[in-house]
Order: sequence, then structure tokens, then C-alpha cells
Amino acid sequence: MQRILLIAVLPLLACAPTTGSGTGEASGTSGETEEPPNPMGSSTSGPSDSDASSSGPGDGSTTEPGDVSSTGEPEGSTGEVPSTWEWDLPEHFPEPKVPEENPMSAEKVELGRHLFYDRRLSANGTQSCADCHDQTLAFTDGLSLPVGSTGDVIPRNSMSLANVAYSSRHTWANPLLESLSQQATIPLFNEIPTELGAVFAEEEILGRLADDRVYAELFEAAYPSDDERVSWINIRRAIASFQRTLLSYRSPYDAFIAGDEDAVSESAKRGANLFFSEIFECHHCHNGFNFTNATEHAGTVFDTPAFFNTGLYNIDGNGTYPEGGWGLAEFTLEPQDMGKFKPPTLRNVALTAPYMHDGSIATLEEVVDTYAAGGRVIEEGPNAGDGRDNPYKSSFVSGFEMSEQDKADLLAFLESLTDEDFTTDPAFANPWE
Ligand code: HEC
Ligand code: HEC
Repeated sequence: MQRILLIAVLPLLACAPTTGSGTGEASGTSGETEEPPNPMGSSTSGPSDSDASSSGPGDGSTTEPGDVSSTGEPEGSTGEVPSTWEWDLPEHFPEPKVPEENPMSAEKVELGRHLFYDRRLSANGTQSCADCHDQTLAFTDGLSLPVGSTGDVIPRNSMSLANVAYSSRHTWANPLLESLSQQATIPLFNEIPTELGAVFAEEEILGRLADDRVYAELFEAAYPSDDERVSWINIRRAIASFQRTLLSYRSPYDAFIAGDEDAVSESAKRGANLFFSEIFECHHCHNGFNFTNATEHAGTVFDTPAFFNTGLYNIDGNGTYPEGGWGLAEFTLEPQDMGKFKPPTLRNVALTAPYMHDGSIATLEEVVDTYAAGGRVIEEGPNAGDGRDNPYKSSFVSGFEMSEQDKADLLAFLESLTDEDFTTDPAFANPWE
């Protein structure tokens, strides 16, 4: 119990020394490399490395910070149905990497979907995962900063869950959360700030689910030979399995990649060329089929740089970001990690406003203007400063000339990444309605 609290709280706290040493993966956290322009390929593919756990903590199977297995949860896979899962993916999409101890099954996915949409998972019964991750908004919530079930403001913008199966790192800046079932401990059990607040009613919530007939069937189908089916590890793994199915690959841009020349406008095609150009530089960080370097999939061998400073703040001229929003530096305590965040996927980005880790940019047009300027200037107030001069800013954010036509083209390209089949797919919708 003690341990779970500590761990669950760490990821959002500014400076917990114990997290500092745990990164140990310099190449994956702060370096930057030149990536060749590679529109839809992956920069990280390579021969299969098969063992999912070799890249770091898997779903509760190691003793890294962020792991929860010491709470008495079983470590291996629990008595579940054998996996007969098959991915149905287009050619330009690799298979996601699935942790060995949490294989995919249709039964677990269905259980996970029910849990994802169930407010009984919060202590006071007022909030579910879906309240901050709404399918129609590509699983974001339209707010700058969301509010948890007990009224706490969460100091980060809710992230899209589109293609989260491919995230090599989860959340905006945590270098340690490597699996979805690990990540789920945060919204469930975090106290400061509180999201679902399940930590205040762990046994009660398990009781609520155990008493429900729908769940009796769903848990039995998913974990038939497990004596203690209704457990937190089974809950987290089922939600993780559901999230791995949230795949977005049916946008107009995907149709274009698959050979349909007319799927996107001429403007969007020009915009794509700008996006992948060495003048606009976007692709260096929003790389590959998922438009983010923080991507891994089955067969990934190399860990690509996952965190960057894009010059949004420079409070005292020394590069400081606002208190509580230091990014990677909160975990590594390294000054050069100040303001470094994960590049989010740009799939469905036209639906995920407001933007950035703190929701501080309202529109896509303003995001693009900020990159063109090489960072953000804040004239007055507590956060005043010239982000263009932030000493920790990536050299890929150095500004560029952009005509009105260029801007319209780049925006048209970004809009072509909107996948309406994804935001309306009944398989991802609320099963309780
Ligand atoms: C109160 C709003 C809220 C609730 C409730 C919530 N989330 Fe989130 N979610 C967020 C925010 C904010 C972030 C970014 C957190 C950060 O960077 O520290 C996030 C990030 C994530 C990520 C990381 C995405 C990535 O790119 O790696 C996943 C996965 C996720 N949430 C899943 C869930 C699940 C599963 C639940 C329910 C158990 C849930 N969330 C409940 C707001 C919420
Ligand atoms: C040096 C790496 C880097 C480069 C180059 C880069 N980005 Fe980003 N991008 C990021 C990071 C990191 C974030 C999140 C920053 C934050 O929240 O502090 C981000 C955020 C965004 C967002 C907001 C997404 C959301 O969901 O909030 C958009 C849109 C975006 N970038 C588009 C672009 C475009 C267009 C270009 C080229 C003009 C570009 N980026 C160049 C790293 C980069």
C-alpha cells in the first residue's frame, strides 16, 4: 500500500530524487539526432528483438520505479484465455509491441472497454477515463487543463490516445513509464493531484465491480482460470489491452499514402512537403507513421530521442519553464532537461486543441506561427520571457520564413491527418450506452 502511493504520486511531482537515477537511458531521453526525411517509414525498425521486457519495465514485471508488482500483484500473466489476436493493419503500419505478460485477447479488450468508460472506477463515482479522453476528440477533452474527480486541476493537457499502443514513453515527460498498464496506475491511484482517486476506495471499487453481473461475465471470459479475477492488475491490463486497439490509420493522408492521389488536396500535398523539408524541420521530432519520435513497435531495436524543448518559455533568461511544468527535468533533475517534453502524435491534431503540455496554445495556426518564429515570446505576466532564446531549445526549432500560402498548406496537411473512422468507430465507443 505504502509503495503504491509513493509510486503513483512520483510522476507528477516536481522533484523526487529517487526518480532521477532511474532513467539510465541517455539516448532515449535527451539526445538529438538527425533523422533522414522519411514520410511514413519508421526510423526505428530493425530485426526482431522479440522480448518485450528487454527495453525496460514491462507491465509490472520489474523493480524499476513506477513498477507496482511489489504490492503483491502477480507478476506473470494471470489465468487468461490464450491469445488468438490478429492485428488488421495497413501496409505502412507495423504491429504494436505487446508486453509478454499481457497478451492481446478480444475478451480482455472488451472488459477493458467497459472499464475505460465506467465511472465506478473513481472513488466518488463521478469520473471515468473517458471523461478526459473523449472519442469524438480523438480521446482528448478540449480543455487546457482537466479537472480530476475531486476537483484538483491536473497541470497537464489531456493527451490523445490515438495509437498509444506505439508510445515508447507515456505521458508528456515521464521517461520511466514504459507500459500502458503501468501508466494506468497514475489516473487510478494518484493523490496529488487526484484523478479517479481509486486509492481512497480500492477495496470498495473492486467490490462494486465484483457485484456487477456484466462484469462477472466479462472477467470470467477474460481471465477464466484466475481465482482472483477482479483484481487491480487484471483491471489495468484489460484497460491497457483496450487502449492498444485505439489505432488511427484511416485518415485522408493514409489513403494518399496507400496510393489514392485524390484523397488529399493539392494544398495538403504541398503542406506535407513543407512538413518533411529541412527548412520547416517538423519531421525531425514528429517522425514516422505516427508523427512522433517517441514511437516503438514490434521489432524496435533502437530507442530514439523522445523529449525536446521547443522554446515555449524562458522565464528568467536562463531557460526556466513555469514551476510544475519543467518536463523531463522534473524526473532527471538535469538542468539541460528543462522544458523537454515528448512530441505528441499529430494524428487527429485538428481535433485535439488546445495544444502543448499545458494547453497554452489555443489554435493550430498559433502553433505553426510559434514554430515559424522559432519559439514563443511572452510579453508580460509571471511567465514573461523570450522562448526563442531559451538555451535548452532544440536546434531544429530555429524559425523559418512562411508565406500565407505556406501556412495554409501546412495546416491543410495537418488537417488531412484527421481520421473520422477512428472518432466514430463503434468498437471504441461507450459499451454502456
Ligand atoms: C482528469 C482527467 C484524466 C483522467 C480521468 C484520465 N486521464 Fe489519462 N491523461 C490525462 C492527462 C492530463 C494526461 C497527461 C499526463 C501527464 O503528462 O502527466 C493523460 C495521459 C494519459 C496517457 C498517456 C498517453 C501517451 O501518449 O502515452 C494514457 C495512456 C492515459 N492518459 C490513459 C488513461 C486511462 C486508462 C485512464 C483511466 C484509468 C485515464 N487516462 C484517466 C488526463 C486524464
Ligand atoms: C525539436 C523537436 C520538434 C520539432 C522540430 C517540431 N516539433 Fe512539434 N512538438 C514537439 C514537442 C516536444 C511538442 C510538445 C511541446 C510542449 O508541449 O512543450 C510539440 C507539439 C506540437 C504540436 C501540438 C500537439 C498537441 O497535441 O498539443 C503541434 C501541432 C506540432 N508540434 C506541430 C509541429 C510542426 C507543424 C512542426 C514544424 C513546423 C513541428 N511541430 C516541429 C517537438 C517538435
